[in-house]
Amino acid sequence: MPLHFTAPRILHGIFHLIALNLIILNLAVLSAFAGPRDNASSRPWMNTSLSPDERAAIVLKEMTLDEKISLLHGTGMQGLGPMSPLSVNSNGGAGYVVGVPRLGIPNLQISDAAYGVRSSGENGRYSTALPSDVAGAASWDPHAAYEYGALIGRELRAQGYNMSLGGGVNLTREPRNGRTFEYMGEDPVLAGTMVGSVMKGEQAQHVIGDIKHYALNDQESGRNAVNVNIDKRSMRESDLLAFEIGLQQSDAAAVMCSYNRVNGDYACENKYLLTDVLKKDWNFKGFVLSDWGGTHSVAKASAAGLDHEEPAEIFYGDPMKKAVQSGQVPATELDDHVRRILRSMFVSGVIDDPPQKGVVDVVGGFEVAQKIAEQGTVLLRNEQSQLPLDASKLHTIAVIGAHSDIAMISGGGSAQVDPPGGNAIMPPGKGQTHWQDHIWFPTSPLRSIRAKVPSANVEYDAGTNPSFAAALAKTADVAIVFAYQWESEDMDLDSLSLPENQDALIATVAAANPHTIVVLETGGPVTMPWVNQVSAILEAWYAGSRGAEAVANILFGDVTPSAKLPLTFPRSEADLPHPNLIKPPQSSTAGGPEAWKKIAAGLPPFQIKYDEGLKVGYKWYDAENKQVLFPFGYGLSYTTYSYSNLKLSPGLSPSRDVRVTFTVTNTGNRAGAEVAEVYAALPVAAAEPPKRLVGWSKVTLKPAESKEVTVDIQQKYLSIFNVDQNTWQLIPGDYTLMVGGSSQTLPLKESVNLK
Ligand code: BGC
Repeated sequence: MPLHFTAPRILHGIFHLIALNLIILNLAVLSAFAGPRDNASSRPWMNTSLSPDERAAIVLKEMTLDEKISLLHGTGMQGLGPMSPLSVNSNGGAGYVVGVPRLGIPNLQISDAAYGVRSSGENGRYSTALPSDVAGAASWDPHAAYEYGALIGRELRAQGYNMSLGGGVNLTREPRNGRTFEYMGEDPVLAGTMVGSVMKGEQAQHVIGDIKHYALNDQESGRNAVNVNIDKRSMRESDLLAFEIGLQQSDAAAVMCSYNRVNGDYACENKYLLTDVLKKDWNFKGFVLSDWGGTHSVAKASAAGLDHEEPAEIFYGDPMKKAVQSGQVPATELDDHVRRILRSMFVSGVIDDPPQKGVVDVVGGFEVAQKIAEQGTVLLRNEQSQLPLDASKLHTIAVIGAHSDIAMISGGGSAQVDPPGGNAIMPPGKGQTHWQDHIWFPTSPLRSIRAKVPSANVEYDAGTNPSFAAALAKTADVAIVFAYQWESEDMDLDSLSLPENQDALIATVAAANPHTIVVLETGGPVTMPWVNQVSAILEAWYAGSRGAEAVANILFGDVTPSAKLPLTFPRSEADLPHPNLIKPPQSSTAGGPEAWKKIAAGLPPFQIKYDEGLKVGYKWYDAENKQVLFPFGYGLSYTTYSYSNLKLSPGLSPSRDVRVTFTVTNTGNRAGAEVAEVYAALPVAAAEPPKRLVGWSKVTLKPAESKEVTVDIQQKYLSIFNVDQNTWQLIPGDYTLMVGGSSQTLPLKESVNLK
């Protein structure tokens, strides 16, 4: 019989079966949550006085093989593998895992949540867009990072999710990476500390936090095929150290392994990464889930330490069951995967305190988003104190470019948060967001600026024709040009130049008005051929739901800038470790309707050699003596600070080797907050780049106020990774500690001999 006759009958049969299964499942849910069985003696794992490990071990013993397998995989995502009928119960997030209702083990409802909860609009809900993760990192404020995570956690719960996919902490090794905005910059100590705080904030709301993409997924081009070559010492001291610190500080319950290969093996079946380093050296007790479509095998992945496949069950469904039954995957290995997932559920509180759907606190969200945007916006240039603007002296202001009359840009891909009402620059009713559209948030710089100067004439020009914009700028007291660069997952930038002729726009406006201020809305660094022609530059990143208000508050001095760059702005691509981005050959990319099959089977690799090794970001420019446009750790304020009185006290404790104390004084006439940064130069024998960040403190100071600041430096941050001994090692010798306001302005310097 031809297929088109049989198919409807088969489908009918399948739907019948699904319906039956769902009824059985629902009955099971009802019986599981009611009646006398639900007490401490019949469910000892619900006893909250036991440890998460004990609880996981007890409940694991009760589980059948099928129940165990069901926790090991998701239920599908369109286009990324087969869909399970059970996915109908998904909350609409990127992942849905069927729990074990008879034992009170909940389903996992998983949502992307990099700078806010994804797909809310699509699901008829609402979520706050925080400033991008890199903007959060630019605050250098772990408390702000905690608030960042706590907001995401609250909004996840309100939408019925109990697990988040955020926590991006890949280092900015390649600044053209389309996900730079989702990460925390180029330094492992800063990035690790900040992501740790985000995770703490999230998990405190009783959702499972996830750190990703482990590891070395430092570019998007060819991400499913690329083989990253890097030596062990370099990876441990750079990209992996960021994860190590993030996990150490937060106990995040999940780690997502990345798409790429590392030294030959896919990250999701890489024993060195998953077992030797993550689970053994770092003693990670949570579970490893694959990036979406990042699983490539059963036995190899399982033995390497992959606990869970997403989003479908290509390998960890039936094939895993058979592998366990045949002994190819040992039962103990299976149990370890399941125990880790259960433990993560207990430890994060998703079993004891499941999410309650509710209404997102929009006003509260705006407040947090604005505060973090204000703390993360970096003042890069301010000639003749062009900023802050004095509202009482301004009669005419030209606001130019980047849809600044109505909106600010956001970052794309799986991080994308939906703007209320859809893409703000689309006509009403046409606001749906699509994968890799440029999505603009309804936060209007023009309106916020007008609100600051109600009596001035504030005019807007779209900036599409530089000479029209210049004509408007010529008539104005100041010209404020908004310029943007959009980026997203699954793409890299061709260059670090602003797109769409915006360099010419800025230069033309600056030539017409000597009081030109540029506000950048970018995911990461951009080049600035016009840098010396403009009087002020603000880096606002992707500024979130309340970006316009935050920018206006900084422009007019209601907020004093205090952010510092978490990554270097190079002068040109020619100065990067790899001037040309390494793109995959055609054979390494998969397209077409069933691309997931080719990806699952493994695409032919192409090679990237990270031979700059541990010289990531400023470590590279320092070591290579390359001038930069704006250095790591740099950022101006409306006040000034001086540093004095450096003292070093070694031998503090076995793990905190040096206490650094110094005085910071506010030498200007405004209150402000200074990020006081501490760097170390290691002994020559360590063979390290000239310096590394080892600590910092963000200090709030009134005008003329001085504070003594103490920063305790962890021994690991002064150590190198000894590959032969597989351990961190302090090289005996002279260490120079340097303190100041940026990686290139370090007025205090003192040496100490450490053994
Ligand atoms: C991304 C992950 C994301 C996942 C689920 C993948 O394409 O790389 O970061 O969490 O999709 O949406």
